[in-house]
Amino acid sequence: MSETKLSGRVAVVTGAASGIGEAIAKLCVAQGARVVMVDSDSIRLDAAAKSIGGDTVTLHADVGAPDTAALYVALAMRHFGRLDTAFLNAGIAGKVCRIEEVAVSDFDEVMRVNVRSVWSGIAALFPVMQSAGGGSIVVTASTGGVQGAPMVAPYIASKHAVIGLVRSAALEGARYNIRVNAVAPAPVDTPMIAHIAAGLGRGDMERARNRTLSHIPMRRYGGADEVARMMLFLASDDSSYSTGAVFLSDGGSTAGISL
Ligand SMILES: NC(=O)c1ccc[n+]([C@@H]2O[C@H](COP(=O)([O-])OP(=O)(O)OC[C@H]3O[C@@H](n4cnc5c(N)ncnc54)[C@H](O)[C@@H]3O)[C@@H](O)[C@H]2O)c1
Repeated sequence: MSETKLSGRVAVVTGAASGIGEAIAKLCVAQGARVVMVDSDSIRLDAAAKSIGGDTVTLHADVGAPDTAALYVALAMRHFGRLDTAFLNAGIAGKVCRIEEVAVSDFDEVMRVNVRSVWSGIAALFPVMQSAGGGSIVVTASTGGVQGAPMVAPYIASKHAVIGLVRSAALEGARYNIRVNAVAPAPVDTPMIAHIAAGLGRGDMERARNRTLSHIPMRRYGGADEVARMMLFLASDDSSYSTGAVFLSDGGSTAGISL
């Protein structure tokens, strides 16, 4: 792989302290980008930035807070003088429980972190990217954004919602050369899937994992780096004619019923 797909460019990554966000931040640096790493977990964020090295700056912030997007856009402009791409990736699974057991506060929190953050991110990014003549925004959705799943209804609803935001934003951004796409992974080996498996298995992680894998034709979780490579493609000029699209990285799990 060439080492220069993002040479000279500046990227923002939310949820950069762990899992998929950390993997794409690392890949961006390897591909020549300077990176603003955003996360609410300051200890893990600092550790991730230190281990990635390169030209990064960190912002400890809650993506669901109203002013966070303006802060990371301003930080990118002040520190690096430009902003070319953003990975709106931070997210939470919420409680693993039946629909009737979901508390209003838990439902609202999943929507705040997973959906409002994407809307506020796109809204803050658009004017800067428009002035710069374009940009690429990549939103981490999920296969849970194109199909249902039991026991995580607010999460599933939130991922369907971000795909709607991606499609609407792509239509508004196209004339300004701003591309907006979603990546939709099936289960990926990160702390989030461990949290969901713990809830589904009610203590029996192995059973939960095996049940989940039985729905994935490739019979394995994805790797954060595998998803990151698809996100890099969407950020780079390699995907220059793609916008408003949902790119699956799912081991075949949405292709049909796996026997
Ligand atoms: N792991 C999976 O199986 C899977 C599958 C499909 C989609 N996704 C999506 O991928 C994205 C990344 O998840 P991951 O699997 O890497 O999980 P992860 O838990 O490893 O990482 C999520 C990161 O987001 C941060 N974060 C959470 N809430 C935040 C907030 N309010 N403000 C700022 N940062 C916050 C966390 O601190 C963490 O560093 C999420 O949007 C998730 O829904 C994950």
